[in-house]
Amino acid sequence: MELVTNAETARCWASLAEHALRLRTIPARDLVDGDPQRFSGYSVQGPGLLLDYTRQRLDRTARDVLLQLADASKLRDAIDAMWRGDAINNTEQRPALHIALRQAAGAQIGGAAIEKLVLDERARMLGFAERVRRGDIAGSAGAKFTDVINIGIGGSDLGPAMALEALRPYAQGGPRVHTVSNVDGCALVDLCRALNPATTLFLVASKTFTTQETMANAQSARDWISQRLGAAAVPAHFAAVSVNVVAMDRFGVHAQYRFAMWDWVGGRYSLWSSIGVSLAIAIGPENFTALLAGAQEIDEHFLRAPWPQNIPVLLALLGVWNINLLQLPTLAVLPYDSRLARFPAYLQQLDMESNGKSVARDGSALVRETAPVVWGEPGNNAQHSFFQLLHQGTPRAALDFLLPARSSCDRQDHQDLAIANCLAQAEAFLRGQHGEQVPAQKVHHGNRPSNVLLFERLDPRMLGRLLAVYEHKVYAQSVLWGINAFDQWGVELGKKLCEAMVPVVRGDSAAPPAVAGLVARIRELRG
Ligand code: F6P
Repeated sequence: MELVTNAETARCWASLAEHALRLRTIPARDLVDGDPQRFSGYSVQGPGLLLDYTRQRLDRTARDVLLQLADASKLRDAIDAMWRGDAINNTEQRPALHIALRQAAGAQIGGAAIEKLVLDERARMLGFAERVRRGDIAGSAGAKFTDVINIGIGGSDLGPAMALEALRPYAQGGPRVHTVSNVDGCALVDLCRALNPATTLFLVASKTFTTQETMANAQSARDWISQRLGAAAVPAHFAAVSVNVVAMDRFGVHAQYRFAMWDWVGGRYSLWSSIGVSLAIAIGPENFTALLAGAQEIDEHFLRAPWPQNIPVLLALLGVWNINLLQLPTLAVLPYDSRLARFPAYLQQLDMESNGKSVARDGSALVRETAPVVWGEPGNNAQHSFFQLLHQGTPRAALDFLLPARSSCDRQDHQDLAIANCLAQAEAFLRGQHGEQVPAQKVHHGNRPSNVLLFERLDPRMLGRLLAVYEHKVYAQSVLWGINAFDQWGVELGKKLCEAMVPVVRGDSAAPPAVAGLVARIRELRG
């Protein structure tokens, strides 16, 4: 799969630029008001969720060209390549087979050998989760675990942390599950102060098992167990997930408490693997399986639905339209269920670590903008903080509203208010407020494009669907831009420089000139 630039993609991009010029002069509210069939023509029902993109600033002609761009960019081939297990991560010569992690028996995604690996490991992990929940796997002195702490960062944290919060009502009957990610150690210190080591299980989640933040926290956690319960207690209180068996062994993780990952799964795509073990302990194997099933439904949809009905593909094309043609470089993600509070943070890694690139698959410089700057908060909270800028500020953003019809806490009276707020905001961003009677300070220009993703209720299956929709949107966009979504060389430089900076901070080596002043002042502050 290589960068696709051909006469047809060039024609599509040129034609899109012309349509964007034309549509810039037509307010989106006129498009909506001028077409009584707008909703049926610009909304799509997928598995368990509806995409309403009526408020986007495009018409049928522009949309047709976007759909042609998908064909010209050989999106179909790229999807088939993912399913075949081709090395679509070309810089690391690896497949990206997160779709294999949620496959059902017999699907053979990635081939029979990978299917077997995945299903065997899934069964082991879910069995472990169930035994921890029941208390069959217990602490060194036989006490049932009351608390489980996932130690990881990036993809080894954001997925479990986001899903633990999203699915809190399903976390019943097992231990409390916490997450620790930051290197400053504060989250771990706070937990250690509050918890009993004899009833605490740590899960060290790290694909590489070399990540500084994770290893620093894991070592401090091991010291805590060792000091409080004795060194011999350590193996009973640590499980781990990694591709790095040697490092897990060296750390002292019991062979039966080690879970596999594979280099064909990217960290930010790994919630579906044993990286989700903390979540499985919290919500139980049945709910975890429902999460996988929801994602798998979207996999099928992405693989088979024609582009005009394909939600991830439409989201990708609308994103390209907003970013590249309407120059809206940011995407605000606004869930109207506060249990999705960490969803924007999860999407930040998924989207920006995947597509935050400025070279094409072949290393040539890109001529177009790529990943949006993703940000967001639960909708109502955001309304009372940054919506002012979205309505009247000079920076412009595109918006994704995530809207459940039913309450996730059995308070439909409250959820009805949340829904009303979401719909009111969608209207306000579309129509704005203007006219001769409106003083300048109160003018809202409107014309801010938004999608609404509507679904019945947030539950494990639904969360799986939502995550897979965005995963595939990100992949489809990477194909349209001609980039590799599955490497992340941009994060490596900072990591490397930090290795040299640790002895500087500790006073064991000289500071590089550009930070010498700061280092001196840090020493002064520490006395
Ligand atoms: O720094 C970014 C990153 O490499 C992510 O891609 C990854 O999810 C995270 O670090 C954690 O890596 P690991 O799971 O190997 O500890």
